[in-house]
Amino acid sequence: MSSLLIDNIGELSLCDDEFTVLTDAAVLAEDGRIAWVGPASQAPVADERVDAEGAAVVPGFVDTHSHLVFTGDRSAEFAARMAGRPYTAGGIATTMERVRAADDAELSANVSHLVRQMRSQGTTTVEIKSGYGLTVADEARALRIASEFTDETTYLGGHIVPPGEDADEYTALVAGPMLEACAPHAKWADVFCERGAFDVDQSRTILAAAADVGLGLRVHGNQLGHGPGVGLAVELGAASVDHCTYLSSEDVDALAGGDTVATLLPGVEFSTRSPYPDAARLLEAGVTVALASDCNPGSCFSSSMPLMIALAVREMGMTVAQALWSATAGGARALRRDDVGRVAVGCRADLVVLDAPSHVHLAYRPGVPLVRRVIGGSGLE
Ligand code: NIG
Ligand code: FE
Repeated sequence: MSSLLIDNIGELSLCDDEFTVLTDAAVLAEDGRIAWVGPASQAPVADERVDAEGAAVVPGFVDTHSHLVFTGDRSAEFAARMAGRPYTAGGIATTMERVRAADDAELSANVSHLVRQMRSQGTTTVEIKSGYGLTVADEARALRIASEFTDETTYLGGHIVPPGEDADEYTALVAGPMLEACAPHAKWADVFCERGAFDVDQSRTILAAAADVGLGLRVHGNQLGHGPGVGLAVELGAASVDHCTYLSSEDVDALAGGDTVATLLPGVEFSTRSPYPDAARLLEAGVTVALASDCNPGSCFSSSMPLMIALAVREMGMTVAQALWSATAGGARALRRDDVGRVAVGCRADLVVLDAPSHVHLAYRPGVPLVRRVIGGSGLE
């Protein structure tokens, strides 16, 4: 057994449901799990010691939404949007062409690069989706590559209907042979349920087939306008519905009454110049909210969870404590996990030592590299 003491922590955010913050604390990890949390003055002896030098420590971020298996640059699309062009999901087909033409090594190198970038910004758990291959072989390959980096892999054959293909025939492929080839490499299935992608019946067909083979469900919903995505996610008991930019009061009530997490992706609103979702409205209604990056080459090419926290606080009505909770414990809920996203005995010892005296600096000092040291997050090194 190996033990590690993180000592001399000025401020420790536990990210429990009460947002408890301890001062002058220490954490003992044994074999990668938290074995003790308490006052630094009572810290036990360990094989190794990390001196936090009075800095703040938070749980590693749990980024539950990313599309990292891609290649190619779409910065011109971003520039065009900033010059006034609206975001459409049409760019997904551009990346699809590039991914189909790429070899495995190129795709794997891109994932590796982005996962390291995430970890250096404090992310210790990451979900990775397929969705830019959109053939049986290319989707299965994307998931095989993603699973080299994380267990949280998501089958997104239902991202868009590839240009020129029939929507119902493609839906049958996604819910049939493509699912069969991908399921062994995936933990989750996701569908882009949105006008221009998959309608509610097509989405239900895909998600029901995925649930039948044992995959957990996630939904991209209500990103570009009001629609049925949130309702469908709650109806099917999905772990999470992501984006939630346009919500009716029925959507909010459904989320409050169900057990689907609302995952907000403020980097998308930033990068597409769209209105931000109203997180305060969701929290007041009792909805569990997570924050994630949606790192992808189109709608948000940011891998930074600290940026998402800052945007959530500044633009979505969250307090800093709520945003930090949503980026850690909220993410864990969206993955239906209780071993990450919190500082508690038994959880994985995934911790971030900040170059700051308080977690508030994550929003107070936007754009500043505040991650001094990342502990844990195995697989993301
Ligand atoms: O989550 N909404 C659909 N999919 C991605 C965008 C992917 C892209 O533009 O390449 C998203 O925003
Ligand atoms: Fe997405």
